[in-house]
Amino acid sequence: MSSAKLNLDGSEYELPVTVGSEGEVGLDISRLRKQSGAITFDPGYGNTGSCSSSITFIDGEKGILRYRGYPIEQLAESCRFTEVIYLLVNGELPTQAQYQEFRESLTRHSLIHEDMKKFFEGYAITAHPMAILSSMVSVLSSYYPEARDEEARELNIIRLLAKAKTIAAFSYKKSIGQPFIYPNNSLSYCENFLNMMFAVPAEPFDVPQVLTDALNLLLVLHADHEQNCSTSTVRMVGSSQANIFASISAGINALWGPLHGGANQKVIEMLQRIRSDGSNYKKYVDMAKDKDDEFRLMGFGHRVYKNFDPRARLLKKSADEVLEKLGVDDPLLEIAKNLEEVALEDGYFVERKLYPNVDFYSGIIYRAMGIPTNMFTVMFALGRLPGWIAHWMEMRNDPHGRIHRPRQIYTGQTERKFVPIEDRD
Ligand code: SDX
Repeated sequence: MSSAKLNLDGSEYELPVTVGSEGEVGLDISRLRKQSGAITFDPGYGNTGSCSSSITFIDGEKGILRYRGYPIEQLAESCRFTEVIYLLVNGELPTQAQYQEFRESLTRHSLIHEDMKKFFEGYAITAHPMAILSSMVSVLSSYYPEARDEEARELNIIRLLAKAKTIAAFSYKKSIGQPFIYPNNSLSYCENFLNMMFAVPAEPFDVPQVLTDALNLLLVLHADHEQNCSTSTVRMVGSSQANIFASISAGINALWGPLHGGANQKVIEMLQRIRSDGSNYKKYVDMAKDKDDEFRLMGFGHRVYKNFDPRARLLKKSADEVLEKLGVDDPLLEIAKNLEEVALEDGYFVERKLYPNVDFYSGIIYRAMGIPTNMFTVMFALGRLPGWIAHWMEMRNDPHGRIHRPRQIYTGQTERKFVPIEDRD
């Protein structure tokens, strides 16, 4: 298949065809407007490829997700999050020596500049931790002004990966009025974050292995997901040659939306609402189907997956295991399972191929770990950080890269003459 033919107003145009390594077919329209004067029209980009990428592959019909060719199930089973970071950012899994050096550099850069602590004094006690994370990531560029220089890129990527977890933990401590716990260089990435979250100066704190393992799984499963809303935002902002900190800060803000990464917080709020309404989950399934009701089943549906989100399947299994190990009996898990069971047998969801997505069960695990609901999307951001960075690098390393600037179909007023205000009625 080398080309496609387009007939428009009696003229025929030939469109080259590009085929991906997994057989996806793309009609190359990069010269369409020059040839025909026409553009394509695809609100929400559901049918539009914005780039070619070698980072992550998703087959939504088959429920397949692979990072750099490795199935998510194998990475979830056997990989530490810091190994997955290395894989996504560098394209290959690290050797022992490469991994040791990478971990040490991540550990060494975990501290934030002491002056950055002053920003926390200015945030309202009720500040959402996503607002703190996006602003603090953006302000990192003022502490590392060389962020604009390409040769500092690798070090700034390490700084960002290492400091984001510290900023996140500090935002939690700020919200509960406890002193900041500094990074501990003897701990792994996950242990370090959990220690900064839950340790208190007055007493020793050993990070429970069950929490470390659960966090590792959650971060691995969130690490990348090709051209989702926030990753496309990072690529868009980075295409203007904005620095890495500014680009990632934009991605954090895109992720915050309840239709995207903010859904994990909304899922728990939805389950709590159902529980307080007599756990009448069938009522809420009916509400989700009612076009006159704006209620949606949060954590359900996906633009790409028209089969089970493989991450949701792994998280459902982990939720059972983590809650059992922690001795937590969360009634919200039962409600979630009942919702899933009823929805997957209901024609409305079956016809629209709406399945649980990554956000449906993740919040149950975060809750059991003692992470507050308003931190859930921050956890998603910590997981997605290596994916955003890998895509930002891929876009910036593209020798044919251009600033992203879509077209539009204008539907407003045609030309009209200006009328001075005194003559307007
Ligand atoms: C993430 O893109 C990614 O990869 C994202 C992500 C990642 O890792 O980066 O996977 C993470 O963002 C997961 C999605 C989290 N969001 C939610 O759980 C919010 C609830 N889900 C929906 O809002 C919705 O399913 C979206 C936003 C996820 C997808 O929206 P689409 O692709 O625009 O689908 P749509 O709105 O066109 O829905 C198609 C139909 C519509 O009904 P009809 O007009 O055909 O009658 O399905 C219905 C929708 O009303 N529908 C739902 C529904 N999701 C879609 N109806 C009830 N409840 C839902 N959750």
